[in-house]
Amino acid sequence: MLNYLLTETLPNGVLRIQLHRPEALNALNTALLGELADTLDAAATDDAVRAVVISGDSRAFAAGADIREMADLDMVGVMSDPRPQRWSRIAAFPKPIVAAVNGFALGGGCELVMHADIVIAGRDARFGQPEIKLGIIPGAGGTQRLIRAVGKSLATQMVLTGEPISAERACDAGLVSELTEPELTLERALQVADQIAKQAPLAVQQAKDVLLRSQETHLAAGLSYERKAFTMLAATEDRNEGIRAFIEKRRPEYKGR
Ligand code: CAA
Repeated sequence: MLNYLLTETLPNGVLRIQLHRPEALNALNTALLGELADTLDAAATDDAVRAVVISGDSRAFAAGADIREMADLDMVGVMSDPRPQRWSRIAAFPKPIVAAVNGFALGGGCELVMHADIVIAGRDARFGQPEIKLGIIPGAGGTQRLIRAVGKSLATQMVLTGEPISAERACDAGLVSELTEPELTLERALQVADQIAKQAPLAVQQAKDVLLRSQETHLAAGLSYERKAFTMLAATEDRNEGIRAFIEKRRPEYKGR
């Protein structure tokens, strides 16, 4: 049973996940993070799911890790915390994730945004890594992914001052791909996910994998990795279907094979 998430798989293959802990601005307590990792693990092997949209509500995407929960942990507690393993499972999810962000995306909330492959944000969204104000630093990728997303100077300013940036700034810097009016954020994210869900699933997963690989490797290795994935896709039925459908001027019918 899910206590902190609302989920629904739509007929078009889009799994909608809404973070639902409004009393704490969707703060990501360990139980919520576990539910998210479990839901994504199940979706990874469910052929009915082709893309995922994660949203919060109009006030907050998520305002960070749960500070009250963190207060009870000493160093040994942090060392044996199950959270890093849950984050790793979220990071390993092979299908595309679109984040629909309104309101606060702070700390772990901003880190969750950076686990998404595409970020659609309402003009009211605020992105930040305020951990420094608590005497700590980001612990779920907020230094490493942020610097890759927005560059050294802005990432360092955000992490060292803890001050959030606007949605517009986040879009200019590359953390966000599209801005919307706040009431249209989810709708637009669902549209983008729908477009992806219509593509050949194996090609989509390979593209995600290769794109993410670019952040961990140098160009020559990345190009070689891309070429191998490209070559492997030549063995899929969907590749033949996609090309045949183009030539026959019809819509392709992909089967994920
Ligand atoms: N953890 C636990 N509870 C939180 C929370 C959090 N991260 N953020 C908000 N809440 C709770 C508040 O305690 C409050 O609960 P009560 O009504 O029971 O007091 C409720 O949510 C509403 O919050 P506010 O009254 O504070 O709302 P506001 O509009 O005045 O302020 C805010 C909004 C600026 C986001 C403010 O809530 C805030 O600063 N939150 C903390 C943000 C933060 O520091 N996040 C980083 C957490 S550390 C982290 O994430 C570590 C990591 O990377 C691994």
